[in-house]
Amino acid sequence: MERLDKVLSGAGYGRKEARALIAQGRVTVNGAAALRPETRCEARDAVAVDGAALERGHVYLMLHKPAGVVSATQDARERTVLDLLDDDLRRRGVFPVGRLDKDVTGLLLLTDDGALAHALLSPRRHVDKVYRVRVDGVLTQADRAALAAGLTLGDGQVCLPAGLELTGEPDTGLLTVREGKYHQIKRMMASLGKPVVALERVAMAGLTLDETLAPGRWRPLTGEEVALLRGERI
Ligand code: URA
Repeated sequence: MERLDKVLSGAGYGRKEARALIAQGRVTVNGAAALRPETRCEARDAVAVDGAALERGHVYLMLHKPAGVVSATQDARERTVLDLLDDDLRRRGVFPVGRLDKDVTGLLLLTDDGALAHALLSPRRHVDKVYRVRVDGVLTQADRAALAAGLTLGDGQVCLPAGLELTGEPDTGLLTVREGKYHQIKRMMASLGKPVVALERVAMAGLTLDETLAPGRWRPLTGEEVALLRGERI
């Protein structure tokens, strides 16, 4: 048996946030509102926040990564994405699912579930990642065609076909890739002669960056979101 506030913080809510959610009547245990943080829960009890079932066991988080932090669990000199989390979560051994460069912002998943992370990152899975990319230059239909055909990078590596959606802003597009080569988007755009000026990941593996998350903030994934990650990709 575990206290309800601990169940929530174990799933990725901050302690204070967990208590506030309970006090606001937004947490249910087996369908009934539970208003006391000390409510005892068993592993088989269904806990939900705002009607969304909570994932129990592992931690799955969506972080809005800000610029200026590195996607690592520790670094001798730089702030890492783990420095943005509460101590409780760091102690659970949460790590980022893949990397975004220090200057790149947007959706980063974090978890302590090595198997799911491995599956999402496996080159054979071809998990979709969508980036909003702003370049120094104007994106054209010819760029779209070149990306769709599969670009060859400066070092001779060949990319899988990628999708480019032109947004109406001449220097900005939505680029979908299905692999994760080192500095991939920056190198793709460089090979088109249009260097990246700003890069943000807006979606990954069917999950879209939650617009209510300010840069540097995170939230637990709902049970449905975790099922989406598992079901569609594994
Ligand atoms: N492509 C890049 O160049 N950098 C990232 O961080 C992600 C994709």
